[in-house]
Amino acid sequence: MKIAIGSDHGGFPLKEMIKEHLQQKDIEIKDFGTDSEASCNYADFAEAVGEAVVSGTYDKGILICGTGIGISIAANKIPGIRCALVGDCFSAKATRQHNDTNVLALGARVIGSGLALEIVDAWLGTEFEGGRHQLRIDKITEIEKKYCR
Ligand code: RB5
Repeated sequence: MKIAIGSDHGGFPLKEMIKEHLQQKDIEIKDFGTDSEASCNYADFAEAVGEAVVSGTYDKGILICGTGIGISIAANKIPGIRCALVGDCFSAKATRQHNDTNVLALGARVIGSGLALEIVDAWLGTEFEGGRHQLRIDKITEIEKKYCR
């Protein structure tokens, strides 16, 4: 599994922790920045990671900003990206099973690093269930086709 990761300055320390955590598990991870706590703009990293995922170069993406809100909104503007802002392990699993999310967003100023790492593991370790859920995702794709010209 190949993972693309990115954050703004608010998410930088947590991004570094998640990278180390996944590298210890021998998961291939590419860091799209940012590379310090200097102020920057979350949309830039949402676009870079989202593009890496929709192009098929990376299997999934992880995005972090202060709240996880701005970066998830930006990622979801890319057709084909289904990004969920998650703050608990139940939702992490459910959003893989039901929504087939391909990008996980986290709020570094909202949740602790221990919970964040458990969420990452739960999200990466859960498969999409397909079936009726695929029909619902197909409807999301239809909305994209209608409004994203
Ligand atoms: C940066 O200060 C902060 O606005 C950003 O990390 C994020 O929380 C935006 O949604």
